[in-house]
Amino acid sequence: MTVTARAHTNIALIKYWGKSDPQLIIPANSSISMTLDQFYTDTSVDFDPQLTADSFSLDGQEQSGAALQKLSKFMDLVRQRAGHNTFARITSTNHVPTAAGLASSASAYAALALAATRAAGLQLSNKDLTRIARRGSGSASRSIDGGYVIWHRGTDDATSFAEPLPVAPDLDLRMLAVVLDHQPKKLSSRSGMANTVATSPYFPAWAKSSEVAAAAMQAALLAGDFDQIGRLAERSAMMMHATNMAAEPPFTYFNPETLATLDYVHALRDQGMPVYATIDAGPNVKLICPAVNAEDLADLFRQRLGKPVVICAPGPAARVLTTAEMEANAHA
Ligand code: PMV
Repeated sequence: MTVTARAHTNIALIKYWGKSDPQLIIPANSSISMTLDQFYTDTSVDFDPQLTADSFSLDGQEQSGAALQKLSKFMDLVRQRAGHNTFARITSTNHVPTAAGLASSASAYAALALAATRAAGLQLSNKDLTRIARRGSGSASRSIDGGYVIWHRGTDDATSFAEPLPVAPDLDLRMLAVVLDHQPKKLSSRSGMANTVATSPYFPAWAKSSEVAAAAMQAALLAGDFDQIGRLAERSAMMMHATNMAAEPPFTYFNPETLATLDYVHALRDQGMPVYATIDAGPNVKLICPAVNAEDLADLFRQRLGKPVVICAPGPAARVLTTAEMEANAHA
């Protein structure tokens, strides 16, 4: 039986950057994110006893080599949990620019975790799903639930999980994705963070201060304090990128347009516009602002940079699609 699941991407307000256990993907610090309504991945999984290996098609292209191997390793976890050895046919469609710092691995592994466990006959709680998704890509643990989510650092497989966070009822944020560059990033987050953990003298300070920032962000979300949320988010991103610049060899995901965009964010803020920025493992900038300012800000950035800007609201939790939705998808 084929099961199709949809999971939305998330963007971290307090970043995850660095593992304390690379095997189990236990992070060095807790992280907090907003799930985005505009970007998602649909993934279908069909376990078939006729197959002699897993197969994986991404956006209509049959995958092989490292991409297939990574996925198959993840499927082994699901097989182990379900207690069988059947291979699967996996088909994935990204409604996200793949690997351009718009977090396609988060939605990809969250959708796969849900579709694969259901297709294998497992009915896991969201908490257990976040632990499985975590093993594919750390940030994927935060794409099982919707809205605002915390991934607790934890100390082992059982305690490193994600869950939704309570926020002020009147908190109405938007995340604006400024798409400066569609190309896949040159350095994966996995190797970027491994290099930083191993060589950056700033890394211990980063991990320690992020834990404090995560607690402050929880309080700011609960209080609905936009300025505090924005300030903490922008600082978390800057601290993450500072650890990279202090690695050996030093590296950065920023490009000149990233800096120009940041400059404009600061200039607008100086003029009283409520806007903050965050940046992940790629050159693209995401803006954080109150919903009422989203359209105006998107227009300002489109005019200034001549680049697409996508306005995202908090997105829903991962879910299994109905047969009717799957059919509509197939004909789209
Ligand atoms: O889940 P990964 O291995 O792709 O790492 C994600 C890292 C960042 O996107 C840069 C930060 C985060 O918390 O999502």
